[in-house]
Amino acid sequence: MAYELSSTSWGQEELDAMQRVLRSGRFTMGEQVRLFEDAFACRFGMKHAVMVNSGSSANLVGVATLFYRSKRPLQRGDEVIVPAISWATTFHPLQQYGLRLRFVDVELDTLNMDVSRLDAALTPRTRMVVAVSILGNPAALDRIRAFCDAHDLIFFEDNCESLGASLNGRPTGTFGDIGTFSTFYSHHISTMEGGLLVTNDTEIDHLARAIRNHGWARDLPADSALNREQPLDDPFFEAYRFVVPGYNVRPLELAGAVGLEQLKKLDAMLAVRRQNAAHFVGLFKDDPRFIIQRENGSSSWFSFTMILNPAMNLDRARVMDALRKGDIQFRMITGGCFPQHAAVKYFDYDIVGDIANARIAHERGFFVGNHPRDITADLDHLHRVLESV
Ligand SMILES: Cc1ncc(COP(=O)(O)O)c(C=O)c1O
Repeated sequence: MAYELSSTSWGQEELDAMQRVLRSGRFTMGEQVRLFEDAFACRFGMKHAVMVNSGSSANLVGVATLFYRSKRPLQRGDEVIVPAISWATTFHPLQQYGLRLRFVDVELDTLNMDVSRLDAALTPRTRMVVAVSILGNPAALDRIRAFCDAHDLIFFEDNCESLGASLNGRPTGTFGDIGTFSTFYSHHISTMEGGLLVTNDTEIDHLARAIRNHGWARDLPADSALNREQPLDDPFFEAYRFVVPGYNVRPLELAGAVGLEQLKKLDAMLAVRRQNAAHFVGLFKDDPRFIIQRENGSSSWFSFTMILNPAMNLDRARVMDALRKGDIQFRMITGGCFPQHAAVKYFDYDIVGDIANARIAHERGFFVGNHPRDITADLDHLHRVLESV
């Protein structure tokens, strides 16, 4: 059987939760989503969690809130420092809101932003840093937090691939002013499609609730600052008030109900992922042919990355051919080096210095899957296949 990139983490509990929602007849965002949001916020020690229909939407809504907040809102043309490697929808909302991106290289071993380059990336127009913890491995979030505080910058944490990771005992996704998560199929917990935004800032929370839901005030508490601009005394007008430009990126009740079940299993699933990781690291840490991901803090090991060591003359095509013949699925690391994609022509951007490591990871890197079940046999098979190349 193939060693797959991803597999379902659902059991009977998730199917039963779906059935309960189907029987209830309430399918659109409601109580189950609210309960999941509360459980999620509690689990990560944050004041607020807002669920949307994907991690991409969490990024989009999160960026939008920063343009409508009362204190120093972002303006078109402001600059944002970003790592050169992430998923496309880390970057797209930044372009869509007219920001200028400054791409910074990553470290070849952690695959996260090289924070020694932050000073060089800073200009008088810089307003925000977006940090991404790649594939479960915490970025230097403590240092990025300190940098943002020192320069009065917004810290936006795209934690869509690192739910369950931590740095110095603090969960990734909670270092930023806004943290985003994805609960897509292959991720640490899955609600089919889904995503969340977490924050301790009540204004951001209210803006996010309005922006995910047509820009509508309906989900906001009566005392929300967003409610103050219009009178509340006529129920006819009160029911349909639009307070900010928004979208419809609401999640379904099915996703909320499944999320509650998945969250209960998270610790057990993370423990197995970490056991698999220990085996993978044991097999490959001393193999000079490959650069594997160096853990910073406590990774939640989304997957296992391997970069063909540029110092050695390895034939990439032969390695990939052997993996295919061995029935081992593999893929590009996250979305690769973003400036190498055609979409970048639509962006306003600079490359800070060079992004040589991101280009190496793009061209010579791949990852194989980790799963919330014991995959020792798959990893041993991978090792044998790569030994034979
Ligand atoms: C870093 C990062 N940001 C955003 C996303 C988007 O999440 P989704 O697939 O739920 O839209 C992903 C997806 O994997 C991701 O890896």
